[in-house]
Amino acid sequence: MMRMTGKSSVMEAALLILVCSVCIVPVLADGSNGYWDPWVTGTTTTSATITWWQESPGSGWTVQYATAGYYDTYGTFDHTVPDPDPNPDNFHHVDLTGLEPGTTYRYLVGSPGTNGVFPVRSFQTFPASGPFTFIVISDTHANEQRFRYVADAISNEKDVLFILDGGDYASRDNETEWADYFTYGSGMLANYSLMTAIGNHEYHNDAGDNLPPTEAYEYSNAYGNVLNYSFDCSGVRFIVMDSPDPLNPDDENPTPAHAESQAAWLEDRLASSPSGTFVIHHHPVWTHGHATADAALQSWETLFHEYPVSADFAGHIHTYQRFSVDGIPYFVVANAGGGFVTLTDDGKPTPPGYVYGSTKQLGYLRVTVDPANNTATADEYYVASLQDYNATTATVLNPPLLADHLVFPLKGTLQTPAGNAGSGTSPAANPGGGSPLRITSLGSPAGNVMTALLNRSLSDLHPRHALRVPVSPR
Ligand SMILES: [Fe+2]
Repeated sequence: MMRMTGKSSVMEAALLILVCSVCIVPVLADGSNGYWDPWVTGTTTTSATITWWQESPGSGWTVQYATAGYYDTYGTFDHTVPDPDPNPDNFHHVDLTGLEPGTTYRYLVGSPGTNGVFPVRSFQTFPASGPFTFIVISDTHANEQRFRYVADAISNEKDVLFILDGGDYASRDNETEWADYFTYGSGMLANYSLMTAIGNHEYHNDAGDNLPPTEAYEYSNAYGNVLNYSFDCSGVRFIVMDSPDPLNPDDENPTPAHAESQAAWLEDRLASSPSGTFVIHHHPVWTHGHATADAALQSWETLFHEYPVSADFAGHIHTYQRFSVDGIPYFVVANAGGGFVTLTDDGKPTPPGYVYGSTKQLGYLRVTVDPANNTATADEYYVASLQDYNATTATVLNPPLLADHLVFPLKGTLQTPAGNAGSGTSPAANPGGGSPLRITSLGSPAGNVMTALLNRSLSDLHPRHALRVPVSPR
């Protein structure tokens, strides 16, 4: 019998480890191998929808799932749900129901011929009460190769419940460009649910923004056909609005008729909101460069003040901006990947309520909600800095840079225009000093305004001038 020497034993052991590693490490499902890693939408306290994409339609798929407590103890799942569609197309959808609120679940999508193609992934059902954190991004335009910086940074976040995305996932409504969103976003989507709004680029065909628009095929199949909807989380309401008008030949921009068609529904959702309301839609009501609110969205803007919203989120103008309009925070978070636009063109008006803005800074907004104390905290993190508006490589900021911080009430009273925090502090109004980094508390729980806890000079274009706030890994 041949005896194994010590050296050969080590080599064979190393080979065995290498082979086993190849066996158990799942293949990255990035579209290049014919799959997009699963993502989770439609999450509630007791349910969620698992979706994945397969280049060559096939059947026999199942979703296995278990609570994280069960899976991490036993290494297996105690529930299995088959794909209910006997003849699925590229997109597969499986609803999980009867779940426990505020619970982390692990799940695995597979079929007899594809076991191992997807990794085990996680999501958390919404809590019935208590604080929670969500992230807001918009305008990823994943095919433009900048979203990867934002997605990688978000994948390092901790204790996030869901991601709210304001649209323009890719620049055109085609499979190749949408594959980039799920390729770069795979890590980001491995642990968090995704709640989505539709952008104008979801209608863009392969010729760009030329009409006729597409039917937004990728959006409706990846996320569902309902374009305006609401959901509640821990007693706080989120309202998703449908701002692009596909019948508008001018780049599917909002129209008064399209917005007004949703106004009655919006008012119902606002009037019945339990303890605070966040609204998201693709096109902003307020943006630098326009002296007044977008007239096409005026019907919404009126209601946002009649039933004071906690905050409004939008995208479309590829920058980060924050406004305070009668004490209501308005965020433009369109800095998640699309080519940037300038905020400093001479002659462009600065609208009332403009507090802060930046361009060429990729980032995301992290919002923590504390319903019991009627408080929300929004932190804008920059994750990478670009030298040029359309550069596809960027200087990574690691750890991410806290660039804007705001504490505000979930339910407060409207402030008078004179109380608008940050009025007159935009780059245009303060050309010599650069734009200020505002660390601002917009109101105690009673709604009183306390401003400028800290106010330092910051170049809006380069992080070396910014206040660097160390960020602990979360
Ligand atoms: Fe965009």
